[in-house]
Amino acid sequence: MFPAWANYLLPLIFFLGIGGMTYVPMLVSLGASPQTTAVGYAPVQPVAFSHAMHAGQLGMDCRYCHTTVDKAAFAAIPPTQTCMNCHSHIKADSPKIAAVLESYQTGRPIPWVKVHDLPDYSYFNHAAHVNQGIGCVTCHGRIDKMEVVHQQQPLSMSWCLECHRNPEKFLRPRDQVTNMTWNPQVDAGQSQEQIGNQLKQQHNILDAAALTSCSTCHR
Ligand code: HEC
Ligand code: HEC
Ligand code: HEC
Ligand code: HEC
Ligand code: HEC
Repeated sequence: MFPAWANYLLPLIFFLGIGGMTYVPMLVSLGASPQTTAVGYAPVQPVAFSHAMHAGQLGMDCRYCHTTVDKAAFAAIPPTQTCMNCHSHIKADSPKIAAVLESYQTGRPIPWVKVHDLPDYSYFNHAAHVNQGIGCVTCHGRIDKMEVVHQQQPLSMSWCLECHRNPEKFLRPRDQVTNMTWNPQVDAGQSQEQIGNQLKQQHNILDAAALTSCSTCHR
């Protein structure tokens, strides 16, 4: 019925077919997601909102806008109303504010593009970090200097674990978590190691075994 070479060709077609079907989605999910292209990812936003202006020059606290960051897993992106507290009168006729006004009038939220995005199979919680004394700057870098937000850290599993093994290298007093320039030596007169170890006890930080157990981040 078939020539001899078909014995080889059919399995080959079968193999390439199945392989191709899983290979392409795999490449897309590994290659195109912000986690693996990651560091430096800075999507263009629908409004030219500048953290350098608002959090830097104007000195606004992160929690004025990201109101849930110390209460919930997710750090809320502010609704247009928050912007309107000021822009109903500040620069209200600027073309750069037009899309903000339009969002306010229509009730349609500004379609901000997500910058940081862990895969769904991993679990992250802002409040757990912020309330235990990990500062925004440790994971997000100098947001107060960014015209456009970019991802500063890899957010990979090994990056998470590096801190979960030795959180004392990063702990700071709770009231300094949104301070972008806090420095242990200058502001507390101690080395990071000294203050980190003190805070680890004071804050009753979980031990490394608990913090590195798979179910902490995969649940
Ligand atoms: C005036 C309001 C406002 C203030 C104050 C503010 N932010 Fe934001 N933030 C925003 C808005 C709006 C976005 C979404 C647009 C963008 O990414 O620039 C955002 C986005 C972000 C993102 C990226 C979110 C994502 O999509 O992954 C991070 C991280 C962030 N802010 C951290 C901070 C930190 C840290 C501070 C304090 C130093 C701060 N923000 C202060 C309004 C604010
Ligand atoms: C506490 C007051 C305040 C809040 C809240 C605030 N802004 Fe601003 N914003 C300002 C000030 C002040 C300036 C600088 C105006 C200037 O250059 O004279 C500014 C500048 C801007 C500009 C540049 C305007 C231009 O023409 O140069 C944009 C865009 C902007 N803000 C967007 C936003 C968005 C979006 C939000 C909400 C996420 C927001 N702002 C929240 C006070 C605020
Ligand atoms: C321990 C590291 C860490 C700290 C500390 C941290 N973040 Fe994040 N942040 C992340 C990660 C990881 C994501 C992505 C979360 C996801 O995709 O589920 C993120 C995402 C965000 C987002 C986007 C919305 C969301 O929750 O996904 C905003 C806004 C944000 N962070 C603001 C802040 C602010 C403001 C602070 C300080 C008060 C802060 N972050 C402290 C790691 C951190
Ligand atoms: C710079 C240090 C640091 C980094 C980076 C970090 N964490 Fe944490 N994480 C902590 C500390 C400190 C705690 C608080 C432990 C406690 O409550 O005793 C914590 C707690 C947690 C908790 C809650 C544990 C519980 O059961 O209460 C989760 C979940 C978590 N981290 C996930 C992550 C993930 C996922 C990443 C990476 C995307 C990450 N963390 C990166 C320091 C860090
Ligand atoms: C501190 C948080 C944390 C802990 C603890 C943790 N993981 Fe992860 N893991 C992550 C994050 C975040 C990612 C996603 C990384 C990315 O997007 O590159 C991940 C990804 C993975 C992946 C996907 C493949 C990869 O490497 O990207 C596997 C498999 C995995 N973890 C298994 C485990 C196992 C098994 C354990 C326990 C020995 C564990 N994880 C403990 C945070 C954690």
